[in-house]
Amino acid sequence: MGWHTAREVEAGLFDADGPASPSSLGDAPPVNVPAAFMPLCERVILHRDSERFGLLYRLFWRLQTEAALRHDPLDADWMRAERMAQEVGREMHKMKAFVRFRTVDQGPGRPSLHVAWFEPAHHVVAATAPFFARRFTAMHWAILTPEQCVSWDGEHLLVGPGVGREQAPPADAGEKLWLTYYESIFNPARLKLAAMQKEMPRRYWANLPEAALIDPLAARAAERSMTMIQKGPSDPARRHPSAPRPAPGPALSSGGDKPQSLEALRVALERCRECPIGAHATQAVPGEGPRHARLMFVGEQPGDQEDLQGRPFVGPAGQLFSRALAELGIDRRTVYISNAVKHFKFELRGKRRIHKTPAQEEAAACQHWLETEIELVDADALVALGATAARQLMGYAVAVTRSRGQWLKRADGRRVLITLHPSALLRMEPEDKDAAYAAWLADLRQAVAQNAAL
Ligand code: URA
Repeated sequence: MGWHTAREVEAGLFDADGPASPSSLGDAPPVNVPAAFMPLCERVILHRDSERFGLLYRLFWRLQTEAALRHDPLDADWMRAERMAQEVGREMHKMKAFVRFRTVDQGPGRPSLHVAWFEPAHHVVAATAPFFARRFTAMHWAILTPEQCVSWDGEHLLVGPGVGREQAPPADAGEKLWLTYYESIFNPARLKLAAMQKEMPRRYWANLPEAALIDPLAARAAERSMTMIQKGPSDPARRHPSAPRPAPGPALSSGGDKPQSLEALRVALERCRECPIGAHATQAVPGEGPRHARLMFVGEQPGDQEDLQGRPFVGPAGQLFSRALAELGIDRRTVYISNAVKHFKFELRGKRRIHKTPAQEEAAACQHWLETEIELVDADALVALGATAARQLMGYAVAVTRSRGQWLKRADGRRVLITLHPSALLRMEPEDKDAAYAAWLADLRQAVAQNAAL
């Protein structure tokens, strides 16, 4: 006689006197197992091996009668159970790493649904689902698999029967973005195909959009590495201001007049030495956009590329931001884009200038410049991209992960939408990016709606 799941029994796979019913077990005597046995059972039970129940049952009885068993790491049953538990653990990890959500629009007034298709090697779906509920609490999502589906509506985690692959949605625009991103970060000189396949076995490739790029990128890797070697090292970014620097003069806090136009603000900013950052940056980076834009986005501070070009949001984070605006149907030229701090703060690491978050006093010293910009542009709504911008706009620390997607009201009555900074998305683990990008677009979409309603 063997052990079977209820589903196997319901499917009539076994004869009538097959599985034991609980009533036939009678009054069981007290039993004793080592503490580690229960978590081991919880893992092994999720293995696809049909002998898992028999193995655990045998181990259980042997533990009652063989005192030495619990201290025998080389026992064949123990070793087999431990190997199965490890395989299950690995599959749970793969599910966390390789689930890729696609966004499904559910119609006006309803939140987007993020749906993923996954084919696990073991029965790990329900056991891994709480991880996704914790990680993507604010989103509505579903993970479809052939055996079981799980879904989260922001409050309830539901487990239901499996579905066919055809129920999974097709690729979306967010996915195309990540393919472009994946391609751009692929370094041919670092390609280690064997290590890559070990971490991301081919079995998962069918459901990973970026996997389609691996073979063509790998095929061209040797040639691209050779071109890189022949080109030799490039010079570090040089500090070439894009416009001549005006002579230092009085800034506002030391007696300068409050600028009455965006052009006057630009000149005053260039002179600003109210904190130490300005002396090291290439140039000040003022906001850009129409004087009376309805919507104003505020980031943290210029990065390396912004510092060199003198324009906000033109580096990698800026490209992601511009792309999101385009996907939301916003022409970047119609909105005002600025930063909480107007100079680039960095530390040198070799030849590279590495971004450093501005200190609170540095941000505070810059606050009046942003306030002047807000008054001059007089936008109806503001969007804070990240914590520095949120603090600068609100005057107090805002917990961005808790308040994202919400409108807060400033003392002057202006509304501020809180959301993540695009750099936060670029720093995320690859497995989190699709969903995080979709959630970010959902936040920004509120600003678009606000913009359209004005
Ligand atoms: N990050 C910002 O916060 N602002 C920029 O302009 C670029 C990157």
